Amino acid sequence: MNKPLNLGVLVSGQGTNLQAIIDACQKGEINCRVSVVISSRQDAYALIRARNHGIPNFVVRKKDYPSQIEYEKAMIEILKNHGVELVILAGFMKVLSPYFVDHYRNRIINIHPSLIPAFCGKNLYGMKVHEAVIAYGAKITGATVHFVDENVDAGPIILQEPVSVDQDDTPESLAEKVHKVEHKLLIKAIKLFSENRLEILGRKVIVKEGDTVS
Ligand code: GRF
Repeated sequence: MNKPLNLGVLVSGQGTNLQAIIDACQKGEINCRVSVVISSRQDAYALIRARNHGIPNFVVRKKDYPSQIEYEKAMIEILKNHGVELVILAGFMKVLSPYFVDHYRNRIINIHPSLIPAFCGKNLYGMKVHEAVIAYGAKITGATVHFVDENVDAGPIILQEPVSVDQDDTPESLAEKVHKVEHKLLIKAIKLFSENRLEILGRKVIVKEGDTVS
């Protein structure tokens, strides 16, 4: 067995995706360890999850730094100190600049609660995504895991899975259904990355042969 891949998870909220990652590491479903968690908010429940599992955790708030670059330098420093090899944005509500993206080029992945390129972009995040899906009358939504580039929700797509929108769905019920799918999809994507099975060819991510991932 190779050395576990060191993950750095960036969060802002509940951290159910973080929990899914921690659980998958513990169960040996992925050969990874969460080396560090960074939260953009002091009150994120994700921090409690990290503490419950003895994972080093930090709060890094943009407003405490004179510029975006200084803010990102502080996060990069922490990630480097913890030997992070893959950065996961798991409900991280801040936009990263090209400075950060360049540091971890093709080593940052994000989970988004819709089928990109639908219902995504700078102003659509968290619960707003599900509200927009229902307001539009869409019958299908889903989850997307993608590499992060300098544009919001725009990097090459790794995996997607659909979720049907039922007539009586509310943003809350839809969020719950999508969350369940997200937890599985994110783990699948991390597993593929850790097994070196993802190849980026322009906009396309090629999944190379290996053991089954389902
Ligand atoms: C998820 O729906 C994710 O797709 C979005 O923010 C939400 C975070 O949920 N980016 P959680 O904090 O992991 O529970």
